[in-house]
Formats: sequence, C-alpha cells, structure tokens
Amino acid sequence: MQVPFSRPYLQGHEGAAVADVIATGWVSQGPRVREFEAAFAERVGAAEAVATTNCTTALQLALYVSGIGPGDEVIVPSMSFIATANSVWQNGATPVFADIDPLTYNLDPEATERAITDRTKAIMPVHQLGLPADMDAFLALGERYGLAIVEDAACAIGAAYRGRPIGSLGPLACFSLHPRKVITTGEGGMIAVQDPEVAERLRRLRQHAMDVSDLARHSANDVVIESYPERGWNQRMTDMQAALGLCQLELLDEILEDRRRLAARYTAAIESIPHLEPPFEPHYAQRTWQSYAVRLSPDAPIGRNELMRRLLRDGVPTRRGVMAIHEERAYAGIQASLPHTEAATEGSLMLPLFAGLTDEQQDHVIGCLATQLAGVAA
Ligand SMILES: Cc1ncc(COP(=O)(O)O)c(C=O)c1O
Repeated sequence: MQVPFSRPYLQGHEGAAVADVIATGWVSQGPRVREFEAAFAERVGAAEAVATTNCTTALQLALYVSGIGPGDEVIVPSMSFIATANSVWQNGATPVFADIDPLTYNLDPEATERAITDRTKAIMPVHQLGLPADMDAFLALGERYGLAIVEDAACAIGAAYRGRPIGSLGPLACFSLHPRKVITTGEGGMIAVQDPEVAERLRRLRQHAMDVSDLARHSANDVVIESYPERGWNQRMTDMQAALGLCQLELLDEILEDRRRLAARYTAAIESIPHLEPPFEPHYAQRTWQSYAVRLSPDAPIGRNELMRRLLRDGVPTRRGVMAIHEERAYAGIQASLPHTEAATEGSLMLPLFAGLTDEQQDHVIGCLATQLAGVAA
C-alpha cells in the first residue's frame, strides 16, 4: 500500500468558486480578498485580518510595522522552518536563536529572557506544528522589556491557548495557507491584527504603500490620484486565491475534527510501540494537528533516518522532525549550541496526516512502525 504524506482537503466545488471570480474579470486583489479577510478575522477572533502572498511575507510585514529594521535583534526558536529566521533577515535585522522547551518543542520563555540584549526589539514565538506557545509568558516578557511580539502561527489556525483562539492573543499573528497547512489557497498568508490602524497600514504596505486601494478607486465617482507616503512591497493575494480560501474556511471545523481523530488514533497505537513517544500535550493548549511528530528514543534498534528509509520502502513517506535553523549553512556561525533543539530535531519524525487519511492507510503506517521498531524486518 502507498500512503500519501499530506493532501489538501478539497471537495470539488472549489473550481466553480474560482471560475465565478474569473467570470467577473477581477482576478487580482479585490472584493473576494476583503471578504476572505473578514471571515478569517472572525474565525480567529481578531479585529482585522490582512491577506498576503504567503506567511513569510506576512511575518516580514508584521515585523516591519513593529518597527524592526537594520541593527535590531529578534529572538526566534531555531527549531522552526527557516522562513521564521528569513523573515527577520528580510527586514535587515538579526535573528537570535533561543532554545526550546524539551517537552513542548516550542520556544522556552526562560531561554528567551536570557537571550535579551539591548539590541533586542522583538520576540517571535512560533506555534510549532500547531501547538500554541506559552503566550502569557511571552506577552509578559514583551511588556516587561518593551519588546514587540509577532507570532509565527503558520501552522496554528484553529488552535487555542487557555481557551482563546490563536489570532486573538497578541497584536500580530501570521498564518500560512500553503497546501501543507490545514487550509490552503495554493500559496497565501494572513496576518491577524488587533489594531485597525495597523491593519490599514499593512494593507497599504502590501501594495507599495499606495494610499488608495484598487477597490476604493473602482468604486469612486471621480478621478483618484494616488500617492505614496512611504515605501512598500507587492505582496497581494489574488481574488481567485481568496475564493478558494473562503471554501476552505467553510471546511475548517471538519478538517480539524478529522485530524484530531487521526492524531488520537496515532497516540493510542504509539503507546504500545517500543521506542516511540507521542507528542507532548500541555494542559494549556488545544492544538491544531497540522503535523503528527513522534519522538524516537536514542536506544531504538535503528536510527531515525534508517527508520524513515525503511518506512518509505513500505509505502510510508515521512519527514524529519522540525529543522534546527542554526545547523543549516545559511545561518552557520550564529549560535554555539542549543542542546534541546539539537536533540529534538535529530530524534523526531513526522508521520502522514491529513483530513481524509483512511483508517486502513493509517493502520498500515502504524503496522510498519511497529514492525520496524520490533526489529523484525530488515
Ligand atoms: C513555522 C513556519 N513559519 C513560516 C512558514 C512559511 O510559510 P509560507 O510557506 O506560507 O511562507 C512555515 C511554512 O512551512 C512554517 O512552518
């Protein structure tokens, strides 16, 4: 049996929704983007939401409106996708890596506090793989040291921290709509924003800081001459993507529920497979199961990469656990050592997980894992 690793959850009606947009002739950023932003904001409990081309550009813009620029330091976890650090670099600032909590694999507030210097301007907690970071601690650090907080919520739509949805907690939280995420627009990003003035500035910055939107110009009765009070970028989402996003939002609860059910099945099975440990569940969080990452104990009969190789031969594709950015050449020399990050990245792997994964497919994954770790198959 061949099991897919990940698949977007699409129901077949999305094509018609996108075709409707094409029929209107408005195929760049327009009314559907505004509709999608409003629906997204409501869903995550934010005052506003601002759509962008992807989560990396969302993070870059969110840092920019937080005043981050050359000479500044932003504390980030190394255990994250490299986009987290790249968004800091894209603003001319320096990412400073702090270690993770060895249980949650999220940025550790105490390690973060130790990394603060007089150049630190922001902290970027990541809700890694959909597990909320300890936001009360980070918001308190932000208050105490006068630092901006920008959340990397790439994987966390639908997650909640102490009962409050991710997107409603900090001033700026950035989500990804890449197909590996829970809902997708092909490529896409969204910034949940609490301050409407900041949202308006973000909307300008994503279109070269022009002070008139296409939507406003088209509905005006008179000639509109735009101006550019500052510099910006082109980070616009298209209305075709927004139409797909609106279809996806309608399916979000169904997707979250199926992923939750599948994750619970994995956890129940993994408890009886030697050398494997399920993901840690902190009491404060209701996670989004964007990925299911298991930990392989150091005394397992085979190493992580060999296990992945054998599973692939069995028709079970996996991915290594979340990367450690400071171990990549792109960021070489920035950090001496982050022991919890290094152990976590080396000893974990992600299993196939997506809404629509069948019980039969999942049982195949579980069976292969059990066989390989019992040392039966060679
Ligand atoms: C934690 C994290 N941050 C940022 C990103 C970047 O998202 P995008 O591909 O939408 O730019 C990702 C994507 O995988 C991610 O996992």
